[in-house]
Amino acid sequence: VPYISPLLVPTATGRASSDGHRGRVAVVGLGPAGPQWLTPEAQAELASADDLVGYETYLARVPRRRGQRRHSSENQVEAERARHALELAAGGSRVAVVSSGDPGIFAMASAVLEALGEGNGQYAGLEVRVVPGLSAMQAAAARVGAPLGHDFCVVSLSDHLKPWEIVERRLRAACEADMVLTLYNPASSTRREQLARAIEVVSEQRAPSTPLVVARAVGSEAESVTVTTLEQLESDVVDMRTLLIIGSSTTRIVPGEPRLVYTPRRYPG
Ligand SMILES: C[S@@+](CC[C@H](N)C(=O)[O-])C[C@H]1O[C@@H](n2cnc3c(N)ncnc32)[C@H](O)[C@@H]1O
Repeated sequence: VPYISPLLVPTATGRASSDGHRGRVAVVGLGPAGPQWLTPEAQAELASADDLVGYETYLARVPRRRGQRRHSSENQVEAERARHALELAAGGSRVAVVSSGDPGIFAMASAVLEALGEGNGQYAGLEVRVVPGLSAMQAAAARVGAPLGHDFCVVSLSDHLKPWEIVERRLRAACEADMVLTLYNPASSTRREQLARAIEVVSEQRAPSTPLVVARAVGSEAESVTVTTLEQLESDVVDMRTLLIIGSSTTRIVPGEPRLVYTPRRYPG
């Protein structure tokens, strides 16, 4: 029996489908790549859905099933996609909205809940749940050991949905607090300056020799993970399938093991 958050328990008003079940939306995390990181819970949710909704690249990762409908859309239309999923569920369908990594981290779960709230009661009675997935940062961290072994924070370098000043403020605050920094959405083919500026900001407070992990397309055939340092980062290789992990003052490369990085759990003092 799938777990249903008590916060999202359906009320009695959701419409039932022709075979009697009530409409519902599950926002399902696919993990960062490949079937090896798809949880059994996510697999079950995908298998039982009537409709699959998602960005075309992520939907392509889900095996086709007879009788299941697919609604793919382009990347930047999250709000529209979320409303579409809720509409389908309001009509009695079991809907799975697919999302890469964990759906609650820079992904579709927020968009669906935002649309649910903006519906002003229109979707009352729908069951909405979030099925977690492995986040790309966990997969990337595991490839090089344990860089996230102590306090860390995660910042998206995308300034599509927030002003760049906020990004810089958060980078400075993370450095000030000496936390390991994970950077999502570091660059795309058109968005290149943000990464250079972020490295400048971080370099104001962190040593040039700080370990830095560049993890690209982790879990896929195109995977490449390298351990370098803040001053030696070659930013040309960084694209939208890449994330970076920048160490804190205590993060170390294991002596004699240049591919292994850890941040000790103990902090001096
Ligand atoms: C919109 S965010 C989605 C994050 C996702 N929800 C998660 O939990 O991993 C997309 C960003 O995640 C990172 N990313 C996603 N998959 C990745 C992978 N397989 N390897 C490295 N980074 C990845 C990249 O920084 C990419 O720009």
